[in-house]
Amino acid sequence: MVCLGNICRSPLAEGILKDKLSDKNYYIDSAGTAAYHIGCSPDLRSIEVAAKNSIDISDQKARKFKINDFQRFDKILVMDRKNLSDLKRLAPSDKAANKLSLLWENNEVPDPYYGDEDDFNAVFEIIDRACDTFVGKLLNR
Ligand code: 4NP
Repeated sequence: MVCLGNICRSPLAEGILKDKLSDKNYYIDSAGTAAYHIGCSPDLRSIEVAAKNSIDISDQKARKFKINDFQRFDKILVMDRKNLSDLKRLAPSDKAANKLSLLWENNEVPDPYYGDEDDFNAVFEIIDRACDTFVGKLLNR
């Protein structure tokens, strides 16, 4: 799960997908394309909206996407088109580039960083539904 800062959207996406696949054997992680917040905990507003939905993301620490993530992961789900195009540019091969897609099909998960609690609630709902769709396809349901 990838966004810009790895403190608002992708930590939520990581926590939500882990929750949905908790009984399955998948390795799920998140990262940002930017280095601003490396080592930081998720934004408090993300921690709070996750907690309200019984998901604990407070132990996560932000990291920057690394080139070898293209090898380590089978699917790389990205929150918006800018981050998708930045990662496409980084991809070392077509095989790597083909692992990339928008989490929410043809839509962007809006950046809530400069928003308020309502924006974080909306982002939670969007990511939750997008993860349901992803899990449905993954498990062929
Ligand atoms: P995220 O949100 O990409 O969902 O983690 C942002 C976090 C930080 C910044 C922008 C977006 N920032 O500009 O510092």
